[in-house]
Amino acid sequence: MSAANAPIRLLLVEDVPQVAQYVRGLLNAQTHVKLVDVVSDGGRAAAQAHQLRPDVIIVDWLLQGRTKGEKVVAQIRESGLGIPVVVLTVPQSPVAIDPASGIDAVLGMPFSGFELVNVVVSMHQAALAANDSVRSSLIVVYAPKGGVGKTTVAFNLAVALGQAGTRTALMDGNLQFGDLRSLLRVPADAPSILDLPTDRIGESDLQDVLWRDPSGIDILLAPPRVEMAEMVSVRDVEKALSLLRRLYGAVVVDMPSALGDIPLALLDAADTILEIVTYDSMTIRNTLAIADAFRSIGYPASKVRYVVNRADSTGGIAAEDLARALGRVPEHTIVSDGRLVVQANNEGLPFVLANPDAPISRDIAKIAADLVRAAPAAAGRR
Ligand SMILES: Nc1ncnc2c1ncn2[C@@H]1O[C@H](COP(=O)(O)OP(=O)(O)OP(=O)(O)O)[C@@H](O)[C@H]1O
Ligand SMILES: [Mg+2]
Repeated sequence: MSAANAPIRLLLVEDVPQVAQYVRGLLNAQTHVKLVDVVSDGGRAAAQAHQLRPDVIIVDWLLQGRTKGEKVVAQIRESGLGIPVVVLTVPQSPVAIDPASGIDAVLGMPFSGFELVNVVVSMHQAALAANDSVRSSLIVVYAPKGGVGKTTVAFNLAVALGQAGTRTALMDGNLQFGDLRSLLRVPADAPSILDLPTDRIGESDLQDVLWRDPSGIDILLAPPRVEMAEMVSVRDVEKALSLLRRLYGAVVVDMPSALGDIPLALLDAADTILEIVTYDSMTIRNTLAIADAFRSIGYPASKVRYVVNRADSTGGIAAEDLARALGRVPEHTIVSDGRLVVQANNEGLPFVLANPDAPISRDIAKIAADLVRAAPAAAGRR
C-alpha cells in the first residue's frame, strides 16, 4: 500500500543476475512501480520483506540456492505480513495460482514491461481493496486517574492481540510523558511520531519510525523530551493513526489521564475505550465524572468497556457497589500480581509472554480474545 501517487514498492527475490537486470531495466522506464531491493538468497527473503515492508513481492520459483521458491513463498505467507506474492516461472515449470499457499499471481517468462507492471499494480490494488473491506480496530486504554495500570495493560494487551493472530501496533498517546520509552528501554535516539514528515506522510515513512519491539509488536513512540510534545499537532496524530489503521488489524493506544486536544481526538477516533478502574474512591469518582463528559460529547455507552484492574484488591469496596456506581457490571477484570508485573516491567518484557499461564496473563488474553470477537473482520486480518 502506498500513499496516493507514491510508487508501488516491489521486492524481487531472484538469484539470476540477468533476470534481475532485465526487471530493473523494464521498471526504469516507468514510475508506477519502484524496485526497492533484489534479494538473491531465498533464505533472506522473509527477513528482508519484514524490514522493507514492500507492497508486492516477486519470487522466482526456480531459485537455485538452499531455499527454493516454494519455501520462500511459504515463509512470506507465514510471516503474516499480508504482502501479495507474484511467482515468476517458465512455461516448462507451470505454477498454479493458489492464494491459500501464498501464490497470489503467476508471471511467466518471458514477459513484457507492460505485463510486469500490470500484475504488480493489480495485486497491489487487490490487496488495498481487501484491506479496506476489513476494519481495523482502534482501542485506547484510558483512565481519568494516573497510575492505575494504563501503560502496563496497553503494552501487554497489544502483545496478547498479536498472539491471538491480529497484527497489532501500539501507539504512545501520552506525548509529553510517554511511558513506553522507559518501559521498553528504548534508546534516546529512537525515532518518534515527531520524525514523521508533516505533510503527505506515506506508509514507508511510518515504517521508518516505528520501533520494532522484540515482543513482536510495532510501536509508534512519543517524542524523547517533554517540551517536544508541543511540536505534534492533532493533524499529525490523526494522519499517523489513519496510516497505522491501514497497516494493522488493531491499534492500541496508551493514553494520558489529562484531556486535551490530542487525547480527545484519540478518544473520538477510538472504536473502544478500554477504561481502567480500580477499587479506590477517588478513581471511582473521576470515572463517574468522565462518564458524564463522554455522555455529553455523545459517545454511545457501548464505546466504553470497563476493566477493573487489581480486581482482587477491593480495599473494602464491594463489587456490587462499584457496579452500582458505574451503572453496569464492568466488562473485564484483571487480578493483581505485584511480583510478576514489577519484574516484567523492570525488564521491559510483556508478562503475557514471560508467564502466559499466570492468572493476570490469562485475564489480559481474555480481554484480547473478547476484543477480537467484537471485531471479527479485523481479527482475520494478518
Ligand atoms: N494488575 C496489577 N498488579 C500489580 N501491579 C500492577 C497491576 N497493574 C499495574 N500495576 C502497577 O501499578 C503501577 C502503575 O502502572 P502503570 O504505570 O501501568 O499505570 P499508568 O496508568 O500507565 O500510570 P500513569 O498515569 O503514570 O501513566 C506500576 O508500578 C505497575 O507495576
Ligand atoms: Mg502510563
